[in-house]
Amino acid sequence: MLVLLRAMATSVQLYTGALMPLVGLGTWKSPPGKVREAVKAAVDVGYRHFDCAYVYQNENEVGMGLQEKIQEGGVKREDLFVVSKLWNTFHDKSLVKAACQKSLSALKLDYLDLYLIHWPLGFKAGEDLFPSNDKGEPISSGTKIEDTWEGMEELVDAGLVKAIGISNFNRSQIDRILNKPGLRHKPANHQVECHPYLTQEKLIGYCQSHGISVTAYSPLGSPDRPWAKPEDPSLLEDPKIQAIASKHKKTAAQVLIRFHIQRKVIVIPKSVTPTRIAENFKVFDFELTKEEMAEILSFNRDWRACAMLPCKNHEEFPFSAEY
Ligand SMILES: NC(=O)c1ccc[n+]([C@@H]2O[C@H](COP(=O)([O-])OP(=O)(O)OC[C@H]3O[C@@H](n4cnc5c(N)ncnc54)[C@H](OP(=O)(O)O)[C@@H]3O)[C@@H](O)[C@H]2O)c1
Ligand SMILES: *[C@@H]1O[C@H](CO)[C@@H](O)[C@H](O)[C@H]1NC(C)=O
Repeated sequence: MLVLLRAMATSVQLYTGALMPLVGLGTWKSPPGKVREAVKAAVDVGYRHFDCAYVYQNENEVGMGLQEKIQEGGVKREDLFVVSKLWNTFHDKSLVKAACQKSLSALKLDYLDLYLIHWPLGFKAGEDLFPSNDKGEPISSGTKIEDTWEGMEELVDAGLVKAIGISNFNRSQIDRILNKPGLRHKPANHQVECHPYLTQEKLIGYCQSHGISVTAYSPLGSPDRPWAKPEDPSLLEDPKIQAIASKHKKTAAQVLIRFHIQRKVIVIPKSVTPTRIAENFKVFDFELTKEEMAEILSFNRDWRACAMLPCKNHEEFPFSAEY
C-alpha cells in the first residue's frame, strides 16, 4: 500500500493506465565502460525509469546493469520502466519489429514499457546510422511517419512493448498521427527537449490536453553534447537558477529537475557520476513556489541544445515553425 502511494506521488499515469516514474536516468553519451555501474548506482538510490535508445550504442551495457540488479534481487522487472527508441534508419514499416527486437535483446528484456519514434526524420536504411550525401546532409528514406506509426502499433499487438510514443515531433506531425485514419493506439508520450531556456509551454499544453504525457530531455542543457560551443548559454551556471537553488539549500541541477516535476512533466537527467545520480533523484523533498516557477518560465529564449541542424533540409525537419 505504502509502496503504491509512493509510486503514485512520483509518477505520471499514462492513458494506458501504466505509471511512468517522473525521474528517469538518461543514457545518451554514457560510455559503455561506465554505464553499467551508473545504472546499478541509479537502481540503488531509487531510480526505476531508464531512458535508452538504439543509437546510443550502449544498450547492451545498460542491460547488463539492469540484469545484475534483477538477479541480485535489488529490483523486479515489473517495477522498472524501460524506454527505448526506434532509430531513423528503421522507419520503413517492415523494419520496425526487428529494430525493436535488437534493443530488447541488447537490454536483455522481453518487453519495453515504452518505445518511441526517436525523430520524425526517416534516414536511408542500412548499416550506416547517419547515411549522408556529399554535403554531409542525411539521406531521407522517403517513408511517411504515418506508416512508421503502423509498425509501432504492431509492436503493442505483439506484446513487445506496453506503450508507444514519439520524440521531437512538432504540432502538425503530432496531429498527423492523432488524425490518421484507422489509428489504433495513440501516442502515450512525447519526448522533447525542455528546460528553462526552452520551456515548451504551447507544445506541453497541447500534448497534455490530448492525453499525451511529456518527457523533458536535456534538462541540464546537455553540457556534454558533442557540438557544444564555449559561447553557448549554460543552465547549470545561470546565476538566477543558482539563486533559487541556494534559497532551498539545493543545487542548480535539482532546481532544473524539480521544475519539470511541478508541471507533471517527466524528466531524464543523464549522469555517469554516482554522487550526481543520487543528487538528481533528491528532488521530492522541496517545492518551488508559484513565483519561482513563473520566474523560471520567464527565462525562455527558445534555445536548443539538440537543434538537429544537419537535417534542416529533410522534408520532416520538425523545428522550422514555432512549435
Ligand atoms: N529524444 C531525443 O532526441 C533525446 C535527445 C537528447 C537527450 N535525450 C535523453 O535525455 C537524456 C538527458 O539529456 P542529455 O544527456 O542531453 O543532457 P543532460 O541530462 O541535460 O546533461 C547531462 C550532463 O550533465 C552532467 N550532470 C548530470 N548531473 C549533474 C549534476 N547534478 N551537476 C552537474 N552536472 C551534472 C553530466 O555529467 P556526468 O555524466 O559526467 O556526470 C552530463 O555532462 C539523454 O541522456 C537521453 O537519454 C533524448
Ligand atoms: C512541422 O514540420 C513539418 C516538416 O518540416 C512542416 O511541414 C510543418 O510546417 C511544421 N509544423 C509546425 C506547426 O511546426
